[in-house]
Amino acid sequence: MKVTSAVLAALMATSVVATLHAQVKERPIPRVVKKDGRYALLVDDAPYLMLGAQVHNSSDWPAMLPKVWPAMEYLNVNTVEVPVYWEQFEPRPGQYDYTVIDTLLKEARQHRVRLVLLWFGTWKNGSQHYMPEWMKLAPDRYPHVVDEDGHAVDSPSPYASASLDADKSAFTAFMRHLKAADPQRTVIMVQVENEPGTWGNVRDYSPAAQKLFTAPVPPEVLSAMQVKAASPSPNWQEAFGPEAEVCFHAWSVARYVGQVAAAGKAVYPLPLYANAALRDPLKPGAPGSYESGGPTDNVLAIWKVAAPALDILAPDIYQNDPAAYLKVLELYHRDDNPLFVPETGGAGNARFFFSALGLQAIGFSPFGMDYTRDRSDAAGGSKPREEFLTPWAMNYRLIGPMQREIARLNFEGKLQAVAEVKGKVTETLPFGPWDAVVWYGATRNNRAVGNPEPTGRVLVAQLKDNQFLVAGFSCRVDFRPAGAEQHRPVEEGTGQIPSAMIDGKWQHRQFLRVEEGTYENGVFKFLRIWNGDETDWGLNFGAEPVVLRVSLATY
Ligand code: DGJ
Repeated sequence: MKVTSAVLAALMATSVVATLHAQVKERPIPRVVKKDGRYALLVDDAPYLMLGAQVHNSSDWPAMLPKVWPAMEYLNVNTVEVPVYWEQFEPRPGQYDYTVIDTLLKEARQHRVRLVLLWFGTWKNGSQHYMPEWMKLAPDRYPHVVDEDGHAVDSPSPYASASLDADKSAFTAFMRHLKAADPQRTVIMVQVENEPGTWGNVRDYSPAAQKLFTAPVPPEVLSAMQVKAASPSPNWQEAFGPEAEVCFHAWSVARYVGQVAAAGKAVYPLPLYANAALRDPLKPGAPGSYESGGPTDNVLAIWKVAAPALDILAPDIYQNDPAAYLKVLELYHRDDNPLFVPETGGAGNARFFFSALGLQAIGFSPFGMDYTRDRSDAAGGSKPREEFLTPWAMNYRLIGPMQREIARLNFEGKLQAVAEVKGKVTETLPFGPWDAVVWYGATRNNRAVGNPEPTGRVLVAQLKDNQFLVAGFSCRVDFRPAGAEQHRPVEEGTGQIPSAMIDGKWQHRQFLRVEEGTYENGVFKFLRIWNGDETDWGLNFGAEPVVLRVSLATY
């Protein structure tokens, strides 16, 4: 390596940090693991559930952080997602500025939260707006995508080798610094780029791109996408027909991002992921109607094969249609991909945190959760500034004290979780000898009719054969012996006991002990026993966080 003064300065900065941190105990590096078809994010060597929130795009400046931390405290997050800006990090070629990252690390530790850092590098929402000025001013060296008429568009070309080299060097410097500056593993994961791809144009039409587009598709892409083409070495058009351009752009963008990720991972192997601006999961429009080239659901297999250094491909979910929201969760919960929701929005969507948990999500994070924007004005002026955070905060207040238990139970396949969808007032969760039955919009001795707004959500985890952890909001839960020849239909609101005919005999559910409590350092702390009115109509959860440990028997 040629040792320039810039490289020397970077090495010195890193070694100073390394010395400063020499006395801090080095913790294990977080990693994503898979067992029996399920994934976990291990932090300090144990499953960890990210109760996350992402700040606004321009909030990672020391002057803005005082407007971040109080919101995070109110939300009860354990992880904050924060961007790192290439333009700030590398103001001149090869000169890296670690001051913002170091401030963030220090303050995150003071506030006892972990971080997911978002590398706003070559791509940010399909554009190159976070490239340093010296790159923006040299478009011939760091070219844009070119449209069919030969005009430059507002998106970086994935064939720009100088941009790729610059991004790899900067991202590597950033990861090297993290490795030295963060033996505590405050940073548990890194997002590489942000919603990479191109809006408005399906692909690059530069001469370099044209040449590749008419060349044979790499065999690994054909096999990943299970293409059975007529010719042995089809080109993109022959292999993918109407999806050819979007598949080609995905391959090009993913290979670029994959190389940046691999370079960073080689110096510091933190879990890495890329996030997607989605296409409509139920009625996907034609290529061109959504951001092209990113890890949309139709090209996940291409991204997997092109960018193996990425541990996760993650959906940014802003869908307002519940069916679409749930479909996205399914599409990104794959055998080759852990479910992680790095961005989401819409207050009514907070309940889908539970749906994500039901698909073993390793983390969840609503977007724009800080006080750098005055949301009270937008909401009519008189509302408290916390109001937009509350639906998400309630989830995290419930789960926060037991996130490690929830993460472990989910990794072990013992947990199910669901959220209410309008029109569906009940659902059944099977657990070996018991079925957990959930009703929405039932309070105490009232019949379940669904909540006026569908806010019901619950998780049930099996602790032992006949013991369950139940926690949720705005729903009723009861248990019924499973494997029945027949069930006595439960007349809701009558206090009737769920019963099942098993081997010709009626078996009735009996609550042995329903304990309300809370987890503290992994131990269930008993508060009181629920009985009488509190259990005669099933277990009713309201608007406040409640955790129950339920022991069952039959008679
Ligand atoms: C998705 C992007 O990834 C975020 O950075 C942000 O731009 C939101 N969209 C919209 O505010």
